[in-house]
Amino acid sequence: MTELEVIQGDITALAVDVIVNAANSTLLGGGGVDGAIHRAAGPELLAECQNIAERHGGCPAGEAVITGAYKLPCKRVIHTVGPIWRGGGAREPELLGSCYRKSLILAQKEGLESIAFPNISTGVYGYPKTLAVKTAVQTVKAALPAIPGIKRILFVCFDQENYALYTAELTI
Ligand code: APR
Repeated sequence: MTELEVIQGDITALAVDVIVNAANSTLLGGGGVDGAIHRAAGPELLAECQNIAERHGGCPAGEAVITGAYKLPCKRVIHTVGPIWRGGGAREPELLGSCYRKSLILAQKEGLESIAFPNISTGVYGYPKTLAVKTAVQTVKAALPAIPGIKRILFVCFDQENYALYTAELTI
């Protein structure tokens, strides 16, 4: 049985098996949670991301890659690239769902048992929080049968609005 939890706080402080980074397609860091994760992990994380970017030419929206965690308290970091919100007609819900689904499948494949997600795309990428929460929770719930090895999934909200939205969505 996989436990779904909502917490409010800083994802870089969590000693779970893997945290998910809301990256951009260059994988070379940025602001928001991406900046916080790179700051906390240290320069070795950027070096590994640069190596992946050089080998694979970056990471398209909806895809996910995994790296080490270096100075972070978690064991691994999954970098996924959310869609930039363009009004809803550019496959945003499909791409956002893919971020959650592919991150979970990657974590399962790597034998990881606890995973923490930020609220992907709802910051710089402008995805409406009220829409993102439904795609995130519905996608994760639909993926559960395919990821029996994952025992704990945390939705880590940095702001109060997302925390209230996720808490309400998970009590439905
Ligand atoms: N812990 C948890 N969540 C955080 C943290 C943190 N330390 N810092 C920010 N957040 C939250 C934001 O409040 C937002 O709810 O992460 C969510 C995602 O926001 P962004 O980090 O802006 O990510 P996103 O909207 O997906 O935009 C990605 O921003 O930082 C750049 O390089 C990144 O270009 C990419 C873009």
